[in-house]
Order: sequence, then C-alpha cells, then structure tokens
Amino acid sequence: MYDKSPDRSKLALVMVGLPARGKSYTARKVSRYLSWLGYTTKVFNVGEYRRQKLGARMQHEFFDPKNEEGAWARRLLAMDALDDMCHWLGNAGEVGIYDATNSTRTRRLELKERCEREGVSVLFVEIHCSDLSLVEANVKATKLTSPDYRDVPPQEAVRDFRARIAHYEAAYESVREDEGSFVRITDAGRRLEIHRVDGYLTSRVLFYIMNLHLTHRPILLTRHGESVYNRGGLIGGDTDLSPAGQAYAHALADFLDKHFPDSKSTVIWTSSMRRAVQTANPLGRTSMAWRALDEIDAGICDGMSYEQIRVQMPDEYEARKQDKFRYRYPRGESYQDVIQRLQPVIIELERTRKPVAVIAHQAVLRALYAYFTGTEVARCPYLSVPLHTVLKLTPHAYGCHEERFPLSPNIPPAHTQLPSTPPGDLP
Ligand code: SIN
Repeated sequence: MYDKSPDRSKLALVMVGLPARGKSYTARKVSRYLSWLGYTTKVFNVGEYRRQKLGARMQHEFFDPKNEEGAWARRLLAMDALDDMCHWLGNAGEVGIYDATNSTRTRRLELKERCEREGVSVLFVEIHCSDLSLVEANVKATKLTSPDYRDVPPQEAVRDFRARIAHYEAAYESVREDEGSFVRITDAGRRLEIHRVDGYLTSRVLFYIMNLHLTHRPILLTRHGESVYNRGGLIGGDTDLSPAGQAYAHALADFLDKHFPDSKSTVIWTSSMRRAVQTANPLGRTSMAWRALDEIDAGICDGMSYEQIRVQMPDEYEARKQDKFRYRYPRGESYQDVIQRLQPVIIELERTRKPVAVIAHQAVLRALYAYFTGTEVARCPYLSVPLHTVLKLTPHAYGCHEERFPLSPNIPPAHTQLPSTPPGDLP
C-alpha cells in the first residue's frame, strides 16, 4: 500500500453521456491511470455485455426508448454489469468504472441506490459535447471500427450510428445537483462543472480528467547517452557522458531534425542529472530539466556495481530479487516511489498537445512506458528500455502505438546494457 487515501471506501465512477462523446476513452484512461498508481481498477462496459450476450449486430431500433423489448433487454444488461461491478468491489476491487450512457435520471438513481447499499460511493462523470464536429470526428475515428459495425459499409454504419444517437437524445437528461456528486466536462474541457466532489481519490480523478485531450501526438522516450558510470557497470551517480554517449546525443539531434524539423513544435524534457542534460545539449532546442525525472535513488548503494551489492549486502540483494517493484534501496527509492513522484509528469504529458521528447533514465522511463502501454506496474522493473534507442509512443483512442528506433549503430550493443548485471536485473 502506498500513497493512498486513509479513506478506504470503494468508489464507482459512473459515466454519463450520449454515444460518441468520449466516455469509453475517458473511462479507459482513468482506469489505466489509477491502476498505474496502484488502485485495483476495472471498467465495466455495458456495450461489451450486450455484444457478449446478444451479439454485435444490433441495429439502431434496439436502442429506441419506445421499443419496449429493447428497453427491457438493455436494462437487464445494465443490471448484469452492475451486479458484476458490485460483486467485484465487494471483494478485491477498489475503483469500478461503470461505462454506459446512463442517460436517464431513473437509471442513475437505480445505480446509485444499489452502489450505496453496498457501501460504494458514486461519482457521476458526465461528458457533454455541444461541438458537433467533435462528435462527428469521434464517430469516424472509433465507431466505424467498432465490433458493432464490422463488415458494414462505412456510410451505412454512420447512418445507423446517428440514428442510435438520436434515440438516446430523445430520452437524455443531464445530471442534476440533487443526484449527488458529479463532474460535467463540456466540449473536451472547455467548460467544467463540479458538484460536491471532495476526498483524495475523487479530487485526483477530477484533476486527471481535466487535463485529458484527444489530440494525437507522439511521446518520445529515451535514456541519456551512455555515461561514465554505465561504462563501468556502476549504478546511480551523476557522471558525464562517455564518448559513446556524446555520439548518441548527436545521433538523437539528427533523429529529431529528421522527424520533427520544426524545433518549436516539440517539447524537450530532461531530468536534472548531468548525463540527461548533456544528451539534450546538441539538440539545439529549448529543454526543461525536471527533478521528478531523475533516476531511481539507489540510496546507500549509489555508486556500487550489482556484484558489489551481492557480495557486500547479500540481504539487500536477495530482498530486491524477491520483489523488485516494491524493494526500496536503503535511504533510497523503490519503483513504486518513482511512480508516485512521476504523477505531475504524467499530468503534464497528458496536458501537452505537442510531441514531447523525454530524456531520462531506465527506471523512470520504464514507469512512464508502463503508464502509456497499460503494462501492469509490477512488470515495470523488467521492461526493456535499452540505451541509445528512441521509443516512440503514440497514444490513440484504444491504446498506444509503439515504434523503436535504435540509433548510433556504430556503438557496440554490449554498451547499451550494464555489463555486470544478469539479463532482466537492471536498475
Ligand atoms: C450499448 O449497448 O452499446 C450501450 C448501452 C448503454 O450505454 O446504454
């Protein structure tokens, strides 16, 4: 357990909004963020229940509120998802995200009463959109590729989906103050209404949602060039780049000039450590140094090799091997600690609409990589983030596209890994 609210009550985030407003996108992002922070989080998507129980191809008439049979079937599906969420929250789950339109007051009341009976507090998250161009863009970007419209000609899919939206519009009621805690986000953050949101976790969710946007832009992650300590197989320190590391810094400058020629359209962040700042020097672009991006603090082991730790501090060596994610170096940090201090970086990464290049360190980049790719955090310490390689991550509605660019082919690959550590056992 770490950095969690002392208030351990369970939370349901209940999404509200017409189709194609970005509810599922927001639900997945929040789920990924909270899981990364260590909360056991799960999305319960009612559309998935429908596809599983009734099949994917349901035409718009199914969603017509005047269609009694359809309404009855949709209520059953909603209740199935709710049962599952409550059961899950009654066990190991901490935050359930109930992803559906929940477009009527009656439905929301039903959900809230049931959750509160089970001791679960509810925050409604309403996504509202008055800018129809955003809705159209969302329909085209996500709905045409949804399983609901597999093998359906695009024009027909768009027509059917618009009719589905119109059915929901006919019965739609916005959340009102007497329904309890809610946040309403209008037009991708242009307007925000907050009602009775208090407490640590809900405030954090709110802060996160406020910074989300739908602009696609890549995030480049790279370790600094090889340092003097890397070459000697020592961990930590604040040493200069080796000659190979300097060569990488120039290769990185060429890479950015080729792929992102407009230097003003990119943001460069480094840690505050010499090797990261020196890697940014030849780029000829403005960069910002963050302490939050500094490498995991190896405490009293700083400056030692893994072999020295094994021989001189066998208990520490063993403890780290047992649980590399939670292991905290004496007077230093664990991976878990690194994730906590990276929170402002994540918020800024989410907020920024330009491509961002992050020049940092192995443990820190593993943590950032895990966030963007939705990798289980316990796997962080084993993720491959080699030296002299740019990882290009492009987040999109359903996840993250990844490309890897190994640079400086003249640098022997052996120098991109610490020589004295067994595979998978890097800092
Ligand atoms: C769906 O069946 O796709 C969603 C049901 C709902 O959110 O009302």
